[in-house]
Amino acid sequence: MWIFKFPITKLIGRWPEVAVALTRNMKPLRRRFIETEALYELSATIAGSDSSAMSQHSKLSVEQYYAEYPEHDRLNSARGQLEFERTKRIVQRFLPTPPAIVADVGGGTGPYSHWLASLGYETHLIEPSIQLVDICRNRMQSNPSQAMPRTVEIGDARSLWLGEASCDAVLMFGPLYHLTERDDRICALRESHRVLRSGGYAFAATITRVASFIDALCHDLLGDPAFLSIVEADIGTGQHRNPTNEILYFTDAFFHSRDEIRAEMEEAGFEVMAQLPIEGLGVLARDFDSFWSDPRKRSSLLEFLARIEGIEEVNGASTHYLSVGMKRLVPG
Ligand SMILES: C[S@@+](CC[C@H](N)C(=O)[O-])C[C@H]1O[C@@H](n2cnc3c(N)ncnc32)[C@H](O)[C@@H]1O
Repeated sequence: MWIFKFPITKLIGRWPEVAVALTRNMKPLRRRFIETEALYELSATIAGSDSSAMSQHSKLSVEQYYAEYPEHDRLNSARGQLEFERTKRIVQRFLPTPPAIVADVGGGTGPYSHWLASLGYETHLIEPSIQLVDICRNRMQSNPSQAMPRTVEIGDARSLWLGEASCDAVLMFGPLYHLTERDDRICALRESHRVLRSGGYAFAATITRVASFIDALCHDLLGDPAFLSIVEADIGTGQHRNPTNEILYFTDAFFHSRDEIRAEMEEAGFEVMAQLPIEGLGVLARDFDSFWSDPRKRSSLLEFLARIEGIEEVNGASTHYLSVGMKRLVPG
C-alpha cells in the first residue's frame, strides 16, 4: 500500500491534474483522497502569486457554503425553476445540434450536464466541490439507465484537464461570480477559450449588482440591517461578502455589471455575441410556485421574457445575466 501511495502523492504535488486523471478506475475512498489532495495543490498553485486577494471574507468560505447549502434542489424550486428554464432556452439558441461536446465548468451536481446528455450531447462536468461531485456521481450510480455526463471530475475553472480546441461549447454557470479577483476570472475565461474549437461558444452566467436588492424585495429582507449593508456593498462595488451566519445570504462572490463581464470576455479573446437577462422581471410573479405550476401562465411568462429582452429600459433588472462569447473563426 505504502509503495503505491508514495509515488501518487508525489505526483499530486507536481501534476495534480495527472494524479486526478489516474484515479478514474480506483476505489471511491482512494479516489476521493487523491482528488481532495490534488484540488488543494491546484488551488494553492493558482492562488500562490495572488497578493491582491480580498482580505475580508464571508463567514462561510465558498467550499463550506456548497458543503452545507442544498444546491442539488436549487433549480427545482421557487425562482430557481425560472433560472433553469430560461438558461436552457438561451443556450439552445446557440448550441450546435448534437452530437457535440460541452464542458460544464462549475457544474455543481450536474443539472445542465444531465439535461444536455439527455439531448445527445457529450458532456464533461468539472467542479471543485467534492460534496457536489459526490451527489452527481451517486445520482449517476443510482440511475444507470439515465443519460449522463461522460466524465465528472474535481477541478477548477482556471486549470481545465480538457485539451485545446476539444469542445464545441463551455458552460460557466458559477465560476465567474465566485472568483472575486479579476485576474482569476480572466484566467478562467482564457482556459475556456483554450478548450473551445474556433466558432465554439462560452456561456458565462453572472450575478448582477442589483441581485441582492431584488432578493431583499422578494424575501422581505430590507428590515435586516446586516442584509442592507450587503445590498449597499453589492450595488457599490460588486464585491459580495456575507459576514453573518445566515447561509441564505450567500458567500464570497463578485457581482458584475454588463460592461465588466463584456470587457473580461473580450480580454480573454471572445467576441461577445449576446448579453441577456435570465430571470428578468419574471421574479415579480406573485406566489411563484403556484404561478409556475400553471402551464399556461408559465409559457406566457417565458414568451414575454423573450420578447422584452431587447427593451433596454428593463434589461438590467435581473438577478442573473447570461453573456455568450464566441471563439473567433480562424481566417482561411
Ligand atoms: C450556484 S452553483 C451553480 C452550479 C451549476 N452550474 C448550476 O448552474 O446549477 C456555482 C458553482 O460554481 C462552482 N465554483 C466556484 N468556484 C469555482 C471555480 N474556481 N472553478 C469552477 N467552479 C467553481 C461552485 O463550486 C458551484 O458548484
